[in-house]
Amino acid sequence: MRRLQFEPLHDELGARVTGIDITKPIAGDALVAICEALDEYSLLCFPGQDMNDAAQLAFTRRFGEPEPNHVKLGATGVIDYLGTVGNVIDANTKQGNDAPRTRYQRGNNLWHSDSSFRLVPAKFSINHAYEVPGEGGATQFASMRTGYERLSEERQKTLDPLQVLHDYVFSRSQVAPVDPNHAASLPPIEHKLVRTNPGNGRKNYYVGSHARSIIGWTGIESRKLIDELLEQTTRAEHVYAHQWEVGDTLIWDNRCLLHRGAGYDADKWRRMMRQTRVSGVGPTLNE
Ligand code: OGA
Ligand code: MN
Repeated sequence: MRRLQFEPLHDELGARVTGIDITKPIAGDALVAICEALDEYSLLCFPGQDMNDAAQLAFTRRFGEPEPNHVKLGATGVIDYLGTVGNVIDANTKQGNDAPRTRYQRGNNLWHSDSSFRLVPAKFSINHAYEVPGEGGATQFASMRTGYERLSEERQKTLDPLQVLHDYVFSRSQVAPVDPNHAASLPPIEHKLVRTNPGNGRKNYYVGSHARSIIGWTGIESRKLIDELLEQTTRAEHVYAHQWEVGDTLIWDNRCLLHRGAGYDADKWRRMMRQTRVSGVGPTLNE
C-alpha cells in the first residue's frame, strides 16, 4: 500500500488525503488513521476516487450506520441511503434555476449541519462529485469548535448548560415550501448547545440554520445568541471553500462543522454529487 498522507487545507479544518483507494476495502490500521484524522481535521478530501453508489455505501458503513435520506423517507416512506445533490436528471437533461428541486436545494445555501433537526443527528456526511460546474458550486465549511475556543471562558460557561430547539420546517420554509408528509415526519427536537468530541475532548457549540430557539429564552434573546454564534463562526477568515473536482470524495464531521453551498447557475451548468450520511450514536442530550 502507498503511504497515507494528510495535507491540511485550512488552519482550522480540513485535510487532503492521498495514498488510498477508498472504493476498495480499507485495512484496519488505515481506518484507524482516517478516524483519528477526522477527529483532528473535521473534514477529509480524498481526490481522484473512482466511486460508485455501492462503494460509497460500503465506505459509509465503515464509520457506522447509514442514515436514510430524510426527504425520500419523510415524503414517501421509502428507505434510500443515497441522496442526489445538484440539478442533473440524466446524461442529456438537467434542471434550471427555477425548477422546484433547485429552489428546494437552495436551502443548502444557508449555513447548516446535516440532519441537526433529527433527534439522532448525522455524525458524518460523505459527498462524491460526479459533475461539477465550470464556475461556482463550491461548498464552504466553518468550524464551531474553533468558534467555541475563541470565546472567553466566562462566555463558554454561560453556553455550556443550554439546550436548543432545532426545526427543519422553521429553516426550510424560508426558502421553499416543505412537503406536508415530510414536515409531519420532522417535529422540532432539542439538542445540547455545547457538544464534546468523545475522541479528543474538544468542545464546540452546535447551531446552524435549523437552530430555532434556546429553551427557556425569549425569541428575541434566542435569535440574538444563535445569530451571533453563526456570524462569528463563519467570518471569511474562518471559512474553507471547497472547489470540487470530479472524483473528490469528502467526509465531514457534522457534530462540529457548519457548511453551505456557495451557489451556481443551474441554467448554465450541470452539478451532480451523491451523498450518504453516518448516523450519530444517540440523542445529543445523552452525550
Ligand atoms: C450537502 C450540502 C451544499 C452544496 O451536500 O449536504 O449542504 O450544494 N451541500 O454544496
Ligand atoms: Mn448539507
